[in-house]
Amino acid sequence: MKKDDIRVGLEKPSILRLKKWLQWHRYKKQHLKLHKNDLFYSVTPLLLEGILKAFDIQSKRNMLNGGYYEFGIFKGFSLWYACTLSKFFEANELSIYGFDSFEGLPNSPVDNSKPAFGEGHYCSSLEFVENKLKELNVIDMVSIFEGFYSADHFNKIDSDFQDVSICVIDCDVYESCVEVLNFIKPHLRNGSILLFDDYNCFLEDDNHGERRALSEFENENEWFDKKHIFDFGWHGAAFEVILKGD
Ligand SMILES: C[S@@+](CC[C@H](N)C(=O)[O-])C[C@H]1O[C@@H](n2cnc3c(N)ncnc32)[C@H](O)[C@@H]1O
Repeated sequence: MKKDDIRVGLEKPSILRLKKWLQWHRYKKQHLKLHKNDLFYSVTPLLLEGILKAFDIQSKRNMLNGGYYEFGIFKGFSLWYACTLSKFFEANELSIYGFDSFEGLPNSPVDNSKPAFGEGHYCSSLEFVENKLKELNVIDMVSIFEGFYSADHFNKIDSDFQDVSICVIDCDVYESCVEVLNFIKPHLRNGSILLFDDYNCFLEDDNHGERRALSEFENENEWFDKKHIFDFGWHGAAFEVILKGD
């Protein structure tokens, strides 16, 4: 066999493969475009790893009771995952609460300039989430509260909220996180686990996002202390709450 034959022999299948790959790529792009609104997924899958770890820790020390709070539901995937874990860990004394405007990120003078955190990003709908949770047989396990986070919005909710066992804060921007921390303040207890999905975003800049909100909260509330317990992905961090003097 001549050298050229070998080259031709190799080229043909690779051109075919390239064509097939391009076809598949085009199909995938079109599929995603057409079905983007129907897809059920988590924006940050590594958050799920963090939630699992938190369930495991609280279960081992008998603190998987009270409330699982989730701020930032989007499609409902992480909320569904928490329901599934609650079944798996037999957390019968755990109430599950979810909070979202379903209108995407709000205007954030502090953080909107960053590409992934623009106003309106991660817009979804309550109807979509409720349908999914119904389909997956967990809708009866959760209470979902729709609306933009504010003292006014939270005050209007008529619910007997339990103390925090686990709180997932996945609302990305500084202003949202400030409202969330003020709302959960009276429900914190020694050992509550707070998962901040975006704590290490903005290149770990102390002047942005959830990191800034938590640092200000700590300075304003002398009774509050935190212990870093683990990171998840490059973006998330989990803390355990310590009530000073307790
Ligand atoms: C990154 S997504 C949440 C992703 C979800 N946890 C997951 O794993 O797929 C952020 C969500 O926070 C919500 N959000 C952010 N700030 C909010 C605010 N101030 N009030 C209500 N919802 C807010 C957005 O509507 C959006 O659904």
